Formats: sequence, C-alpha cells, structure tokens
Amino acid sequence: MNDKIESAPHEGRSFAPPATFSETAQPSAAALAALYREAAEDHSGFWARQARRNLSWKLPFTQGLDDSHPPFFKWFADGWLNASYNALDRHLDSRGDKTALIFESDEGTVQRYSYRALHAEVCRFANGLRTLGLHKGDRVVIYLPMGPQAIIAMLACARIGAIHSVVFGGFSADSLRDRIRDAGARLVITADAAPRGGRLVPLKDTVDAALAAGYDTVRQVVVYRRNGAAIAWNREHDIWWDDVVAGQLAVCEPEWVEAEFPLFLLYTSGSTGKPKGVQHSTAGYLLGAMTSMQWVFDPRPDDVFWCTADVGWITGHSYVCYGPLLNGMTQVVFEGVPTHPDPERFWRMIAAHQVSIFYTAPTAIRALMRNGDELPRRHDLGSLRLLGTVGEPINPEAWMWYHRVIGNERCPIVDTWWQTETGAAMIAPVPGVVAAKPGSCTRPLPGIAVDIVDEQGAPVTAPYEGGYLVVNKPWPSMLRTIWGDDARYEKTYFGQFGKQVYVAGDGAHRDEDGYIWILGRIDDVLNVSGHRLGTAEIESALASHPRVAEAAVVGRPHEIKGEAVLAFVVARGERHAAVADGLAAELREWVGTRIGAIAKPDEIRFVDGLPKTRSGKIMRRLLRTVGRGETITQDTSTLENEAILGQLCAAEARASAAA
Ligand code: WTA
Repeated sequence: MNDKIESAPHEGRSFAPPATFSETAQPSAAALAALYREAAEDHSGFWARQARRNLSWKLPFTQGLDDSHPPFFKWFADGWLNASYNALDRHLDSRGDKTALIFESDEGTVQRYSYRALHAEVCRFANGLRTLGLHKGDRVVIYLPMGPQAIIAMLACARIGAIHSVVFGGFSADSLRDRIRDAGARLVITADAAPRGGRLVPLKDTVDAALAAGYDTVRQVVVYRRNGAAIAWNREHDIWWDDVVAGQLAVCEPEWVEAEFPLFLLYTSGSTGKPKGVQHSTAGYLLGAMTSMQWVFDPRPDDVFWCTADVGWITGHSYVCYGPLLNGMTQVVFEGVPTHPDPERFWRMIAAHQVSIFYTAPTAIRALMRNGDELPRRHDLGSLRLLGTVGEPINPEAWMWYHRVIGNERCPIVDTWWQTETGAAMIAPVPGVVAAKPGSCTRPLPGIAVDIVDEQGAPVTAPYEGGYLVVNKPWPSMLRTIWGDDARYEKTYFGQFGKQVYVAGDGAHRDEDGYIWILGRIDDVLNVSGHRLGTAEIESALASHPRVAEAAVVGRPHEIKGEAVLAFVVARGERHAAVADGLAAELREWVGTRIGAIAKPDEIRFVDGLPKTRSGKIMRRLLRTVGRGETITQDTSTLENEAILGQLCAAEARASAAA
C-alpha cells in the first residue's frame, strides 16, 4: 500500500476554544448538535432546508437530492436562481452601503467598493458582455490579476449565465491555451500586465502567445488596463474593458438559470497528464460556499475577512468571490504576495484594515515564521479573532507559531480540509465548539458524510490505522462532472468503491478521539506550496524536450513548500555531458514555459534509467524513498534493472553531499 496510508504521526495537544469566543459564537454547541441530528435523520431534507433558508430563488425547488443516476447527482434540480443576484442584489436594501471589498494593490494603494458599487460594476460589465454577444452557456476564460476586476468578471459571467473558467495568472501560455481549447471559450478576459511582488506579469502577452496558433472558438479578448504597459493590439479581436462598459446601464436583469446549470469550470491537476475541468453547479455550489462559511468562520456583521488565496484557485472562488459576498461580509482582497515589499506585508495589512478573520496557507505561515516573532510583533494584530488554514496539512510547529505569535493564544484556528472538487470546506472545526489539535482538520461539517476505508472499502475503525478518505453521500457543492468527460469523472472519483462513494485521493486516519488527520495525496498528485501539480503533467512536459528520453517526477518533503518537485531524467546521449552543459537549468525553464513557474522542478537528477517493474511500470515509491534519502525497505525483486538502484542511491548521496 502507499506510504501515505501507513505513516502515523501522533500529536497529543488539544486547544479548546477560549470561553470568550465560545460564549457568543455561532453555531453554538447546541445548535451544532441539532444540525448533525437533522442531517443524520434526513440528509436530503437537511440540505433542502438549508437551501431554502440561505439562497434566494426565482423559482423554488421541490426536491432536494436526485440520486437516480449515480454518480451523476442533482440537487434542487427544478429550482431557478442566479448566483450574482444571491451574492449582490439581495444585500442592496439591507446593506447596500456596506463595504464589500477593500482592495489593496501590489503597490499598496487601497480602493473600496460598497455592495452597491460592486453591484453597479457587475451590471455594467454584464450588459457589456451581452452587447458582445455572449449568451447563457458560453464559456469565458478569465486570466486576470487578483483584484476587483476578477471578481466583477466572474459575477458578470454568472449574471448572464456564462460559465467562467478562471486560470491562475502564473500559468504559462501553453497551459492557458489547453484550458481555452478544452473549455471551448468564446471570450478571454485579461489585463495588459499586472505587478505581483514588484515584478510585472505580462498577462496580455501570454494570452497572445496562447492564441498565436489560432483563436479557435475565441471571438474576443477583453483587456483591462491595469497599468498602461505596452502590449500588442489585435484589432480584430481585442477590446478594452473600458469600451465594453462604456455607456452601459448599472442595472442588469439576471439570467435565471436552473439549479444544476454550470456556474464555473476550474481546471485542476490529476494523476494523468491532462488537467481536468472540474464542473460546478450553481445552487449546490453556492449553498456549500455559503453554509461552510457560516459554520467555519462564524461571520458577524462587523467582521473584516481576509482570505489570501488567488481567485485562480478554488479557495479564491469559494472564500473570496462567492462565500463572503453571499454572506454579506466585508473582505480584504490583495493583489500581491506576503513577502513584498518585505515579510511584514500581511501583518501590516491586518493592522491597517482591522482584519478579524484571517485565512491563509500553511506554506505562507512557514515562510513567514522563518523571519521570527519580531516582525509580526511590530504590528497591532489585536483585531484578529479567528484564524484559518487551507491547502495542505499544517505541521504542528507552524500551527503553534500561528497560534502563539499571530493569534496571541486567543484566536481559534480552523484547519479546513477540502478540494477543488468538493467546492467548499468539508472537514473543519466549528470554532466555538470543537477543540483544535495542531495538524488535524478535526471533524466533518454537518451534512458531510466522510469516512476512512481500507482497500476493500470497509470502514477503518482502529485509531491511527490509515485508509482512503471517502465521502459516502452526495453533498450539494460536489463537482458534477469533468467538463466534456463524464467517463473520466466516473472513473476518477467513483471507480474504486462504487458509484455512491466519492474517493478524495487523500490518505487519512483518525485518532482516539475520532479526529481526522490528513496524511496527503495517495495518487500521483503533488502539493507544492498548497498548489496541486500532477506528476504526469510535469513528466510529459519534461519528456517533450528533445534531449529527454524519459522522466519520472516525485515529491520530497520541503520545509516551506510542504513538498518539492524532484525529477529523475534520462537524457538522450551521455549523462555527464547533460549535467555539464546546463541541461538541468534549461529543463527547469522548459517546464516553466510548458506549465508555469510553480511546476519547475526544484531538483533534476540525471540517471541512466528509471527503476521499473518487469511490466514496465515506474516504481515511484522507490524513487520517493531514494529522494528522501531513506533506506530502501520495499521489495526490489520485481525490478527489471537492479543496477539502476545503485546509481539512484549514488545520485542521492551526491545530492545530499552537495547540500
Ligand atoms: C490538500 C484546495 C491537509 C489535500 C482547497 C487535498 C489539505 C488537496 C487540506 C486539494 C488540509 C487541502 N489539510 N490537506 N486542511 N486542505 N488539502 O484542489 O491533499 O487545490 O486533496 O483544493 O489539498 O487541493 P485543491
């Protein structure tokens, strides 16, 4: 079995919520118990009640879950609604002047949008999109910097029933083109160029490169003028954002859509080379984003929420764009990075904007922790009352630092486990009720039927016994399919234990208190700085280089990034020549242009061959062991070429000597 299922770190410390927090927190212990009870009694009815209470419907639904064609589940299917109406319009009477967004740019300028102002911008842009000829069901790729325009673009798409697919600005032209093509996008929305961490990201140039070989389905490219950078202009296709909204009305009748109508696609890495277009529904997704926000973050009217994720990832969809707005919250939106202009940026911003709920990634915490306690202590972090983490397991040391230095030992920490596919947080402590343990995401939220099972699908009951993390019942915010590939959806997520059991791809175990501990991915997916990367994707990028015969990629523990990318490469020609003439550096750049900078291997080792079984399968587990410098304990008798092993170990010895 995979090593991710066997390992068992123990952590004994437990932190109950401070009494001052629990006294007023929602849900309270009693309310939470009632939610679990309700969900256990009637799963579909529970979610139906939540959907009636939380969402505004144009046409009410009559049925909760439709599970007549597993694993293609439907929720609230005969209801009609609109996502942007739910995020904006329904707040206008009660809190139209409330600040929705506090945007801080990379350079540090601040801009605020009230709910009314954001609504007006969304309507204008939505009317503009309609004028461009966009209709319900058209796909729109958004390749924008993190900022209000990204949110406006997403909500404007939702307003007219266009399906948005946001691509993170760090992806390369090749990756962008693949996504544009797979989605069959009619429109691309981008910016001229955007500063990030003091450097300029040439977004429009990248879009041009992505479309250089042909526009395919793309009719137009909308360009937001972020900073006036010089760009090439294609008169046939390019149009300025300002011209799209010029003269448009600040009201726009929403396109009402069926509950199951796709709200967005978001591409994510899987265990094969091709990224998957994870397809989310409208109503179910919105409900998950909304209720999880309520249960996990205890939102109050005067909170200032800050989720540091980019909208290019699912966290930015659910806890920047949709969740906070659905709940009528005020939030900080940040264009930059935590270390620019200096590693005090986060702490300075928390103090400046009086942030009360802060949600970030373990990798950022680890990076900032390295700079010591002194930097955060220079700032008044007294506005904070709740902290959160997402994206990867947090090591207890980083958790304790977050708790002690950032939370001043008075803020609960919510460690939220979820995925692009789950749409919303699934396993996380309800902060006023559930005691936290450093490194555990604790318990499933109400209405989420999580379990841990063995190879046969039988529940694992013994504490610390590892197994597959699964979800036994459909939940509203689950993905509906992989865009254009129902078969892959079925095989990837429901192929192992039947059509009712969603397999998350993570290994996990419970402790003696029933707390869940995530042990990491058990498929060939890496988690680097909280970002998902498929090993197969990086391997095929490497193998497409003319001087590479074969490549295998594995993860290796990394102090800050969580996992680092280690590539074993068989070069064409002589190995030592390859090292000498800088092929490693060239290959790193090559992967950067094929996929994006985040996928560049941290280390490349040239070898004469890869360890394979006699049937030709690469023995990744062996490579992982070697890459970690651990003693090989697995059975190597099935190795086709045992001499390779000695070479791999020698390469490892050289690498650690060099380090
Ligand atoms: C990992 C990010 C441990 C996990 C929201 C999952 C976590 C993958 C946690 C999904 C957590 C996410 N503790 N591991 N709190 N949150 N993961 O799709 O391996 O980018 O399968 O979604 O991140 O990554 P994705």
